[in-house]
Amino acid sequence: MAGKTSLLPDAACAYLGLLSVRPDMQGFGIASDLLAEGERIARDDWRRSLMRITVITTHRPELAAFYERRGYRRTGRFKPSFDRKQVLLVPGLKPEWMEKLLAPPRIETTI
Ligand SMILES: CC(C)(COP(=O)(O)OP(=O)(O)OC[C@H]1O[C@@H](n2cnc3c(N)ncnc32)[C@H](O)[C@@H]1OP(=O)(O)O)[C@@H](O)C(=O)NCCC(=O)NCCS
Repeated sequence: MAGKTSLLPDAACAYLGLLSVRPDMQGFGIASDLLAEGERIARDDWRRSLMRITVITTHRPELAAFYERRGYRRTGRFKPSFDRKQVLLVPGLKPEWMEKLLAPPRIETTI
C-alpha cells in the first residue's frame, strides 16, 4: 500500500482524515490524488458541498500550506486533541478545522 486516507459522510459535509503516504513514495502526487478522489466521492456520490479536515496547523505550517494550495482554508476553529480517556495528549496541540467548498455535482445529459 502506497498511501491511505479515511472518508466519512456527515450530515451536511464530508470529513477526510488520516491522509498519509509511505515515506519512500512521497512526492509523486499520491496524496493529491487521494484528496481529489475523496472530494469527487463527497461531491458526486454523496452530494456534499463541503469537505472538512483537521490539521495541526500550529506545529505543521507546511501541512496547512499543502492543503491551502489545494483550495482549503483555515477556519480559526480548533478541536482539542484527546485520547480515549479524554486526556489531552500534548498540551497546546490542537488540530484546526480546515474546509473547502466543493463545486456542485456535474450534471451530464445526452441528447
Ligand atoms: C503530507 C503527505 C500526505 C503528502 O503526501 P505526498 O504523496 O508526498 O504528496 P503529493 O506528492 O501529492 O504532493 C507533494 C506536495 O507535498 C509537499 N510535501 C512534501 N512533504 C511534505 C510534508 N512532510 N509535509 C507537508 N507537505 C509536504 C510538497 O511540497 C508538495 O507540495 P506542492 O505539490 O503543493 O508543491 C505526506 O508527506 C505524508 O504522509 N506525511 C506524513 C503524514 C501526515 O503528516 N499527514 C497529514 C495529516 S493532516
